[in-house]
Amino acid sequence: MEFSTLIKERRSVRAYREAEITHEELLGIVKDATMAPSWKNMQASRCYVVESPEKVAAFREGALPGYNQNSTEKASAYIVTTFVRDTVGFADGKPQTELGNGWGTYDLGLHDAYLVLAARNAGFDTLIMGLRNVDFIRETLSIPEEETIVSVIAVGKRALDPPLRPRKELEKTVKFF
Ligand SMILES: Cc1cc2nc3c(=O)[nH]c(=O)nc-3n(C[C@H](O)[C@H](O)[C@H](O)COP(=O)(O)O)c2cc1C
Repeated sequence: MEFSTLIKERRSVRAYREAEITHEELLGIVKDATMAPSWKNMQASRCYVVESPEKVAAFREGALPGYNQNSTEKASAYIVTTFVRDTVGFADGKPQTELGNGWGTYDLGLHDAYLVLAARNAGFDTLIMGLRNVDFIRETLSIPEEETIVSVIAVGKRALDPPLRPRKELEKTVKFF
């Protein structure tokens, strides 16, 4: 798909229809996400993919608050994204800048941006969710303590086309010098 079309068509989708996603399709999406840039190419972003139908249903119920459960009721899979703490932006165990682990979150955000665009390019839709139950997720997916859990991303096929949510005018967000 042409890039400008791709970025315009991507939406946060909150209504999914029953649809299968294959292991290969999920593999393609997470692989594309690894093409994102990262601090010193450290690639500290991690994905935990919940793909089997029974696990998807149980995960939805335990990992998400009601609002996000409803929005992703028929989503085909969930991808939890994390990063390995105290590595990105660190040297000899010390933060290199005032942002500390902010750089790990930054790298993961880039990774996740690639991931949601890759999903759209493969014909799927996504919802990034910051509202999630971290304790349940860590225990269920055996995520090590040294990783910070950031987002849960639902993947599936849209049941309807959501309208584009308004963007601020560039004059309010960008300054040229
Ligand atoms: C870090 C992050 C966390 C988000 N958390 C949620 C969430 O918990 N539930 C939800 O419905 N949408 C969530 N969203 C989706 C945003 O509301 C959405 O991206 C924004 O309204 C713009 O709409 P669009 O993605 O369709 O362009 C989140 C998005 C981001 C980037």
